[in-house]
Amino acid sequence: MKVTVVGAGAVGASCAEYIAIKNFASEVVLLDIKEGYAEGKAMDLMQTASLNGFDTKITGTTNDYSKTANSNICVITSGIPRKPGMTREELIGINAGIVKTVSSNLIAHSPNTIIIVVSNPMDTMTYLVHKTTGLPKNRIIGMGGALDSARFKYRLAEALGAPISDVDGMVIGGHSDKGMVPLTRLATRNSVPVSEFISEERLTQVKEDTKVGGATLTKLLGTSAWYAPGAAVSGLVQAIACDLQKIYPCSALLEGEFGLSDLCIGVPVVLGKNGIERIVEIDLDDAEKAHLVESAAGVQKTNGLLEL
Ligand code: LAC
Repeated sequence: MKVTVVGAGAVGASCAEYIAIKNFASEVVLLDIKEGYAEGKAMDLMQTASLNGFDTKITGTTNDYSKTANSNICVITSGIPRKPGMTREELIGINAGIVKTVSSNLIAHSPNTIIIVVSNPMDTMTYLVHKTTGLPKNRIIGMGGALDSARFKYRLAEALGAPISDVDGMVIGGHSDKGMVPLTRLATRNSVPVSEFISEERLTQVKEDTKVGGATLTKLLGTSAWYAPGAAVSGLVQAIACDLQKIYPCSALLEGEFGLSDLCIGVPVVLGKNGIERIVEIDLDDAEKAHLVESAAGVQKTNGLLEL
């Protein structure tokens, strides 16, 4: 199993690290345009192998896509991250050009690859990869919901005073401050609806804190987060590499599911060896449906800025 991670910045390197630590891939190639940077990150990570007990071979390359040849899974993290006060949507101008070039370079060397898009604005970048590469829709996956759901579970556990392992919950919709739809109605603490434990008011607060999860960190760090994004990507990569048939909310091309078409947005999907094995069309209540439709309108508006 060969995995390429494009972009050896904080998210890409943390993603490579988590993939290696989980020890399921034989090879991870880190690629970056900055001279020597990916090679340096790869060497540093390899020097943790004996300490962290993994056998995954991590190599780095400065923009030489021939080194990525025959990757089973490619992750695109390249582009600029947001700075405090910026929305993810404001990154579109620069990142669209980068994502287009990177995806076509990757496919030239790995025609059978599955692509995971992380660069922001993620739902629109995922749609761009669909529009420009012609890969089948099961092989293009946007990572946002897995991260937003992890942040949701963190906030839920905090509000419940419960361990995170007791908490389950999912965020669907666009990966943006306004677009996320945390499904509080379906969130549980060990199978019991969370509404049994905390007030509607507290749940609304959890929802709001979840939606600005990335922005809160960007303000604290001066740039966007990397540990949770990297860990979330590694979860998707593992589900595909090990054919786990695991459900994650991911940005997927919709063709009528949830009453939506011609966009990529976060919905629950089953991940396995073929990438998106299927979209799970769960029943939403009227408020959740309305929120998802509103979120889709936001994503469509950003998609409209693409020069296709
Ligand atoms: C975040 C970026 C990765 O939410 O979108 O931290």
